[in-house]
Amino acid sequence: MSISARYTRYLVFALVGLTFFYLVSKSSLQIPTSSSFAPPPPTYEEVKEEKTNSQVPTSNERVNATFVTLARNNDIWDIAKAIRSVEDRFNRNFHYDWVFLNDNEFDDEFKKLTTALVSGTTHYGVIPKEHWSYPEWIDEDKARAARLEMGRKKIIYGDSESYRHMCRYESGFFFRHELMMNYEWYWRVEPSIELFCDVPGDPFRFMKENNKKYSFVISLYEYIETIPTLWDSVKGFMKSHPEHIAEGNAMEFISEDGGESYNKCHFWSNFEIGSLEWLRSDQYIDYFTALDKDGGFFYERWGDAPVHSIAASIMLKAEEIHFWNEIAYYHVPFTHCPSSEKTRLDLRCHCKPSENFDWAGYSCTKRWFDVNNLQKPDGWDSKQ
Ligand SMILES: *[C@@H]1O[C@H](CO)[C@@H](O)[C@H](O)[C@H]1NC(C)=O
Repeated sequence: MSISARYTRYLVFALVGLTFFYLVSKSSLQIPTSSSFAPPPPTYEEVKEEKTNSQVPTSNERVNATFVTLARNNDIWDIAKAIRSVEDRFNRNFHYDWVFLNDNEFDDEFKKLTTALVSGTTHYGVIPKEHWSYPEWIDEDKARAARLEMGRKKIIYGDSESYRHMCRYESGFFFRHELMMNYEWYWRVEPSIELFCDVPGDPFRFMKENNKKYSFVISLYEYIETIPTLWDSVKGFMKSHPEHIAEGNAMEFISEDGGESYNKCHFWSNFEIGSLEWLRSDQYIDYFTALDKDGGFFYERWGDAPVHSIAASIMLKAEEIHFWNEIAYYHVPFTHCPSSEKTRLDLRCHCKPSENFDWAGYSCTKRWFDVNNLQKPDGWDSKQ
């Protein structure tokens, strides 16, 4: 190539470059200035609007159901992780709604992130004061003394006041929150939980079509120190409301002497898929009201897990309660991982089978299978 030909080429390149630069600078393709490198973050309203405009078509196949999470603003990263897990393993295909409840207002950071992560519509509710405070029949001095005493004994959350309000709220009120009144089914999700397998099909639809009212993935024994008089209270309720006790119930799961005493087995309620209509029934409300009057949410430390579990076990038919082998789940410190290798591979699970809690000594799941004459999944008795 001659020297002049080379220079001609350079000239052409330079001209093309200059023309391009000119056109770009005339068009909207602005060369960024330093301030536009850092645009102001979007507001919650903007995130919400953008999402509404790009909404994936809603499915007619959905059941009238929602996810529900009780959280605080500072749970944001733990709840983000839980949502990611639920979306990746299930909800991205369904876009179910998600209701967030808090005893204070959610801030914009929380609302923006969760709205962006959830594929369905998100709703944010504040818990009414009267559902998160002392009812008038509670002696607050007695409650305070009980907290101090349980704190001294190092009982888990024994000294916590807000934990007690939370347990009472989950036991008797979340399903009556005005936002929850728009649904028939709920799936409770707590911060930091994980799902390890693809969820096959739609659990809400399964519940509805198979006439299930309550379901669980992990069951275990409760610390007796938190509920010394709970069973007395339950017995009082059963005596005054025999009409609410179901025939063919699962009493055998929770009592080894026909209802005389409680064996402390309960479904671990940080995961639940269940019927809101059942929780809103006279049957359940009468039960909660009776327990609440006895004061054990404050004078002891009754958890919503034994409260829900006892209700389900005495007021539902055993077959209305469902165990989800397919929903592999973690909430500190326990894991449910399907026992069968075939199930784990089919559902692309990433849980470690040796961490499965189902058949461990402290679990009640083996008892659930035994008292209901259910066939245990393949691999349940293999040493992992
Ligand atoms: C969903 O259930 C709620 C509570 O029963 C009801 O008020 C609402 O109309 C239902 N929505 C649909 C779309 O069926």
